[in-house]
Amino acid sequence: MKSSEIRKKFFDFFIKNGHTKVASSSLIPAQDPSLLFTNAGMNQFKDIFLGKETRSYTRAVSIQKCMRAGGKHSDLDNVGFTNRHLTFFEMMGNFSFGDYFKKEAIQFAWDFLTKEMAFDPKNMYATVFREDDEAYDIWLQQIGLPKAQISRLGEADNFWQMGDTGPCGPCTEIYVDRGIEFGCGKISCAPGCDCDRYLEVWNLVFMQYDRQADGSDVPLKQKGVDTGMGLERLCLIVQEKKSLFEIDLFENIINTIENLTNIRYQKATKEQQAAFNVLADHVRSSTFLIADGVTPSNEGRGYVLRKIIRRAALFAQKLTDKNIFPEIAQSVIQEMNSIYPELKPAEKAIKHLLTIEVEKFAQNLIYGQNILERYFEESKDRKIISGAQAFKLYDTFGFPLELTKVIAHEHGFTVDIEGFEKHMEIQRERSGGKITKERFDAIDLEESVKTNFVGYEKLETTSKILSIIYDNQLVKKLNEGESGWIIMQESPFYVEKGGQVSDQGWIQINSTKTPILNLQRIENAIAVQIVAPKTISIDDTVTALVDKKFRLNVMNNHTATHLLQAALIEVLGKEVKQSGSLVHPDYLRFDFTYHGTMTPEQIKIVEDKVNQKIRENIPLNIYYTSYQNAVNKGVIAIFGEKYNPEEVRVIDIPSFSMELCGGTHVQATGDIGCFKITEESALSAGQRRIFAVTGVKAIELFQETFTTVKKLSQEFKVPQHEVLQAVERQQEQFKQTLNTIKKLKKQSWKAQLATWLEQVIKINNIPVGIFAIEDSSAEDLKEIAQALNTQKPGFYFLLSTHDERSSFYCILADQFESQINLKAFATWLKDTFELRGGGKKGTLQGGGPAIDINQLKEGIVAWLKK
Ligand code: SER
Repeated sequence: MKSSEIRKKFFDFFIKNGHTKVASSSLIPAQDPSLLFTNAGMNQFKDIFLGKETRSYTRAVSIQKCMRAGGKHSDLDNVGFTNRHLTFFEMMGNFSFGDYFKKEAIQFAWDFLTKEMAFDPKNMYATVFREDDEAYDIWLQQIGLPKAQISRLGEADNFWQMGDTGPCGPCTEIYVDRGIEFGCGKISCAPGCDCDRYLEVWNLVFMQYDRQADGSDVPLKQKGVDTGMGLERLCLIVQEKKSLFEIDLFENIINTIENLTNIRYQKATKEQQAAFNVLADHVRSSTFLIADGVTPSNEGRGYVLRKIIRRAALFAQKLTDKNIFPEIAQSVIQEMNSIYPELKPAEKAIKHLLTIEVEKFAQNLIYGQNILERYFEESKDRKIISGAQAFKLYDTFGFPLELTKVIAHEHGFTVDIEGFEKHMEIQRERSGGKITKERFDAIDLEESVKTNFVGYEKLETTSKILSIIYDNQLVKKLNEGESGWIIMQESPFYVEKGGQVSDQGWIQINSTKTPILNLQRIENAIAVQIVAPKTISIDDTVTALVDKKFRLNVMNNHTATHLLQAALIEVLGKEVKQSGSLVHPDYLRFDFTYHGTMTPEQIKIVEDKVNQKIRENIPLNIYYTSYQNAVNKGVIAIFGEKYNPEEVRVIDIPSFSMELCGGTHVQATGDIGCFKITEESALSAGQRRIFAVTGVKAIELFQETFTTVKKLSQEFKVPQHEVLQAVERQQEQFKQTLNTIKKLKKQSWKAQLATWLEQVIKINNIPVGIFAIEDSSAEDLKEIAQALNTQKPGFYFLLSTHDERSSFYCILADQFESQINLKAFATWLKDTFELRGGGKKGTLQGGGPAIDINQLKEGIVAWLKK
């Protein structure tokens, strides 16, 4: 059975059983800093499990893209060495949100596997959480699984948690016995064993708790079910293959590697097969990560991507010297694009980033491996790579720890991981990378304390104060002169989000206005920081005023950002994806993924398009709809952003741009006035950054530039459009003048040569000349010294002083080398006159403070005489 058929059967089965089909979310979790990558199907449903969000359905089914290469669940170290681990995989799952629980969940799984997939019950095993009698009994009585095929395991195996915090609960896992030939042969071999015999296929989690940062478990308001089954593992069993890399999803990818390397996978050595596996998996995961907007970097998600690519580069050496990553990526895209259409538009970026990332690392990979060879030799008795050594490899050669571990392992060495972490920690502290604690940790607002944000329609409101915070505590009043935070029932203040900066403004109490110092969101409330101009208490009524000019400029820049993104996509293609944005009253900054550079013509076309749309004065259509509906209409959503699937806010600039956004916008595009890109540059490989201005700022820029050009045209006495040529002409003339001066200078010192030569004295029979030559460059000094030395070989010391600094050039003819030690002379010069210098054989060049030439002459003569 092909994977496509398995996908279909899975969806059909659960839809038939009342589940709503939900699309896979991005690999970048939506606004969830507790999670590096989407690592399970339930991630996108986290808030529903926690009771913070509801949907129109209580049963869902999905096939979710997942990454397990960092954070709590990581399989990176295993890939290449087992037949069943991947960093990127697809997780099939069914979910219940306060709907069915254990009985139905187990029954569904059993029916799907035994009926739809035709698994033989004789080969099926279940594990349950040690204390979960209910699940045990369901397996035994309801399903009729023999006792010998059910086992109880501890927390490590049968209690699932998403991350260090968040939803969690006991689970039951379904294993399939693949036969004794896959086993490790140990008597203890049973489900849960590390070998390949009992393959874990499906994990059914009974979500019951919300794990807190302190490790305690708070019961959830409503229980739920979260199940996950790796599509690839299911294919492995159904297609009766030995390894995941033999299933249909990998067939084309492995074929591509075979063709590129001329090595047949089935005939390859074990080492080479490991390299095939690693390349197939790692390039597949990198392709998906880049398509979702991740680019290689030195931190966070970008660093995991870098680690994966570098680890793959290490293994690739076993198969070829060529960089075959882009071609492998291409076959991944071909294989998966029909299911994940986001891949194709990102193809160029994927190939480009993989190419440069591998090339950049190639040299360091060789250096690092050589160093490691030395370490192996040095500690061949202890067989351990120390933390300091692993850190050195990381710091100097960019070797991720995972890479050092692989190579060490191949040599029978281990790595001191703790030692490595210690060194990392020291480095982090040095670079000041400590994470600052969030404010208001101690504040626990009552559920009724909510602020109604009215800032889309109004810039001024009067309402009641609901809470006051002073010194990180809830208080009843704020005394005059105290700085604290007030929470109002209604607020027009926009709090920084989605790149748009927080509003500025005032709080007016009776007739006194006081500026707001800061804004922050606490759960559903907006806290405003002020210094109380008079004592204020809970229930007092105050007025909140947004700074209109500030906000209007922000609105111009926000809508302009949307126009810019749409124009960029039109000009550069769908590969353009927002990767960052700052909407400020004075300017906008927009970061986006794009593999190439932008030409001045492209920049101009983008500007023209935006200005065209501004002139069309298109009224904005802002409305709320469901996420799915918006996506169907072709709306642009931003990866990593959290959207409520049932209600999203659409900013529609008809026939040009449609984005999901919570920001504040103009009424019609004409309000923006005009738009000008001021800077376009590379942010990092595969990412570009644009700065632009709008409205008043753009006009100011235009006026300033105009005034400058006008002045220049008057200075140069040319029409404005010829100013540039006039400047270029003048530069050319200036260059010529400098050349003339240089020539004249040369003529003048040449004329002087005879006089200087006459002043040469003899010390110990060596001709010696020590002269001050005013206003000469280091280059001049060198030329003069060489000329003197050619005419009368000897020892020459030339000094030029300028602006309290002096520079010197000293030359010694070859035949006197044995008599004068220039090295010793340099030391003496430094100790006596603070003149520092160095140079090639027979010369000394350098500088220091201003020196009186007579004093210097006396000193040098005395030194030479000695
Ligand atoms: N969340 C569970 C897992 O990832 C079941 O989907 O294994």
